[in-house]
Amino acid sequence: MDINRLQNLKNQAISSILDSKSERELEQIRIEYLGRNGEITQFIKQIPSVKDEKRKQMGILLNDTKKAIEDAIKNQSSIISHQSSVINSEWFDITLPGLRPPQGHLHLITYAIKEIAAIFEKIGFNRVAYPEVEWDWYAFEGLNMPENHPARDEWETFFIQDLSSPKYGEAVLIPHTSSGQLREMEKIKPPIRMLNIAKCYRRQYDVSHIPMFYQFEGLLIDKGINITHLRGVLDYFAKQFFGPKRNSRIRPHHFRFTEPSFEVDVSCGICEGRGCKLCKGGWLELGGAGMVHPQILKNGGINPEVYTGLAFGWGVERTYIMKSGLNIDDIRFLYNNDLRFLQQF
Ligand code: PHE
Repeated sequence: MDINRLQNLKNQAISSILDSKSERELEQIRIEYLGRNGEITQFIKQIPSVKDEKRKQMGILLNDTKKAIEDAIKNQSSIISHQSSVINSEWFDITLPGLRPPQGHLHLITYAIKEIAAIFEKIGFNRVAYPEVEWDWYAFEGLNMPENHPARDEWETFFIQDLSSPKYGEAVLIPHTSSGQLREMEKIKPPIRMLNIAKCYRRQYDVSHIPMFYQFEGLLIDKGINITHLRGVLDYFAKQFFGPKRNSRIRPHHFRFTEPSFEVDVSCGICEGRGCKLCKGGWLELGGAGMVHPQILKNGGINPEVYTGLAFGWGVERTYIMKSGLNIDDIRFLYNNDLRFLQQF
């Protein structure tokens, strides 16, 4: 048996194993050397004819050779499979155009606020901002709602602990944007056309109430302002915001800071005023409005003999939800920050 030739075959086999680039090539090499008629197998078949003393030695040598080739194949096979997984996972085409990161959009209520502000700006209302942490005087007392007055219970209020002023009373988180009325009157002389949009706070939480929400408040003070102007402004808003087919109406109500006071409704967009299960006889409630009470004008340093005014204040979220086509049956969805909800709009 030619030991040199065996050594050469082993070297040859190992070097072609190391050169091989695929499982298929490896398999061919295995067949070539270790297959049924493979080069090494030929040697193994000769063992029985080798003389006694040499037979054991040859057996060991052939076994070692066979094992060395098998190990080399195994090793190379794992290198090949690692390389192909790297190629699959890390290779990329640098000429492909980049992926755009997903683009978000403003929050629904931010859109609503922009839209409402734009509608009132067109008819001359100026957007203002006043404190959200406010004195009792501006939120209640100065609006004809003295402490302990039952009307005040409707505005379930958050109080700021240990903060009060001898002149203006306790500090509260504003429960409505009407607190901006006296601030505006103190700041500018009539004519006043104010649009106050702000976060308001009340102790409430259910499908139609949240503790922090937005209101928008209109205040118009000038000579000769009367209810027809109020009707005109309300109708203009209803048509601009909800659509040209929508109407508004006012119903008598009571607020301490307006006289007369009204509840404002907009005609239902679903049944177009005929009446359906989503509305009350064809109407949806928007919020409060009225003619500014003479005492409030006085509190704001304005002579009620000369000037009159109109005011209205509604929740932004409520008003937005009423827009037809939006079937949001829980106001809290707006602020859960669930993208599955927000991305629909
Ligand atoms: N501030 C009242 C509320 O929060 C609404 C309102 C505003 C009523 C202006 C009349 C005039 O309910």
